[in-house]
Amino acid sequence: MTMAQVGNYEEPHSNWREYIKGVRNVPPLFKMVWKAAPGVVASSIFLRLLAALIPLTMLAVTKLIIDSIYNLTSHHAAIPKVFWWLVVLEFALASLAMISARVIDFCDGLLADKFTRYINVRIMDHASSLDLMSFEDPFFYDKLERARVQGTDRIGMIQATGRLVQEIITTVSLAASIFLFSPWILIVLIACTLPTFLAETRFAFLGYTLSSRQTPARREMDYLRVLGGSKESAKELKLFGLSSFLVDRYTKLSNDLYKETVTLSRRRLIAGMLFALLGIIGYYGSYAFAIYQTLIGVLTLGTLTLLAGAIAGASSNIQAVLSTFSSIAGQALFLTDLLEFFSVRPKVFSKPNALLAPRPIRRGFEFKDVSFSYPGSSRVVLKNINFRLEPSERIALVGKNGQGKTTIVKLLTRLYDATSGQILLDDVDIREYNLEDLWREVGVIFQDFMRYELTSSENIAIGRIKDRDNEFRICSAARKSLADDVIRQLPKRYEQRLGCRFEGGVDLSGGEWQKIALARAYLRDAQLLILDEPTASLDAGSEHEVFKRFAELTEGKMSLLISHRFSTVKMADRVLVLENGSIAEQGCHEQLLKIGGSYAQMFELQAASYR
Ligand SMILES: Nc1ncnc2c1ncn2[C@@H]1O[C@H](COP(=O)(O)OP(=O)(O)OP(=O)(O)O)[C@@H](O)[C@H]1O
Ligand SMILES: [Mg+2]
Repeated sequence: MTMAQVGNYEEPHSNWREYIKGVRNVPPLFKMVWKAAPGVVASSIFLRLLAALIPLTMLAVTKLIIDSIYNLTSHHAAIPKVFWWLVVLEFALASLAMISARVIDFCDGLLADKFTRYINVRIMDHASSLDLMSFEDPFFYDKLERARVQGTDRIGMIQATGRLVQEIITTVSLAASIFLFSPWILIVLIACTLPTFLAETRFAFLGYTLSSRQTPARREMDYLRVLGGSKESAKELKLFGLSSFLVDRYTKLSNDLYKETVTLSRRRLIAGMLFALLGIIGYYGSYAFAIYQTLIGVLTLGTLTLLAGAIAGASSNIQAVLSTFSSIAGQALFLTDLLEFFSVRPKVFSKPNALLAPRPIRRGFEFKDVSFSYPGSSRVVLKNINFRLEPSERIALVGKNGQGKTTIVKLLTRLYDATSGQILLDDVDIREYNLEDLWREVGVIFQDFMRYELTSSENIAIGRIKDRDNEFRICSAARKSLADDVIRQLPKRYEQRLGCRFEGGVDLSGGEWQKIALARAYLRDAQLLILDEPTASLDAGSEHEVFKRFAELTEGKMSLLISHRFSTVKMADRVLVLENGSIAEQGCHEQLLKIGGSYAQMFELQAASYR
């Protein structure tokens, strides 16, 4: 699939409009933060307001103290009554500053935990509401990946915003005091820090663009890393001698990324240093000017102290405000992915006031001129498919690899909607039914069914999770699929954890897993049973046994079977042969053999290999 075909993904453009778009992400973020932890946020805001005003208050108290001392030593004036109280006040303010800073840190920690949890739960919730289509789209994956990693990383940004508010209040209060004594100093200070702001903002934006561009490579690196360290791949990696191939590939990718990142960081370092130097010049220039004014008697010594402190505080705070702001704006760009992810809506969904699925189904399913192409692909996988699946009918779908058998199942279960044509259930378009209700009526075991690393009983209960404690139903489903024989060999039987990711887990063979998965279908109290290659991993004896039971159990029930094994296919009431996206032949096994078409050919080929 090429970019042009997908066409729903754009590289971020390197311009200011994009940047402002990033800032627009901030309000929705705050809404989420507030929802995640209202109490913590409120306390944090209060403390920051308090902390913001402490620096100026302390400077003012210092000014009073120094002026009193100056008056005492130079003019022999009496010490004011409150003098020592001023010293105590200064001490109290310093303590308060320390305490509030620590409590703010504590709140930030709490907020980080709560927000991360909130975002992760929301991402999981939202991902589960999306359709298969999204999950089979690689660009969706990049978005999901960025949302996941960077959504929770944004906690730094939230804390930065708290800091920003605090820094702004401090700056404004200090700037006001500077302005009071010397407006020029303030102007010089601002002029010297503005370039830093612009540079920082620019680099934050470049950082985002770079990181966005690197996502596919990072995803591939993750994939290689997992591949190199997973149980599933270990056998092949060893025998095919693939580890150094994987390591080389990983190293190459990571070197490329490293080079790009370092180039940007180097530019940022140099620009950052130059502009910071300008800031220092501004500070010392203003400082020298204040000293000069004190020497000529325009300012008192206490005022000089206040101004020196205010200039130092203001210049570092103005810088902090600007760089915090640009880092927030830069980080806000990353939020685009999170917010876009949350705004992805499933394309397959239930209509409002959708119908409940019929129970019992009276007329069955009907494909009417159904055609289908996967989104983003121009290839027509199914072309004008027409067939009926009557209640109590067992249909088998056969065809070579990639002819669209599994795709028919995906359409029948509405994991995808047909591109054109209609699928009817009891003469009503399946899009009219409530999705969950429709899904309740079908039991599907896909060829790539999941092997859950849970207990054997839970693995079966997956088929109908509300029966997870219903031992009786689980065991009888296991007996029907022959999983019972497998489970009884396990040390902890139904309580045995399967798979070997966790301690004490026992792995099963492919055929054993398949029997377990099959039990899920039997546990499900569904009206239509669909098995996609249910016997692919079974040995000949098991296959025969499984099918004998399947035949008994589905007697008079609607079922759809997909299989490459003719011993399995033979027992269907009707066989549909898919070829080049259309139904080439249909009929029962004997009829199809008589026609002597492709079914007969395929059958002969298989039979010959057994002779
Ligand atoms: N998610 C997807 N996106 C794009 N194309 C797809 C997707 N899934 C399947 N296809 C394509 O659709 C065609 C039909 O696939 P399908 O899985 O239905 O084949 P199948 O008949 O079940 O084959 P098999 O016997 O190998 O299971 C294939 O050519 C495949 O490449
Ligand atoms: Mg298939």
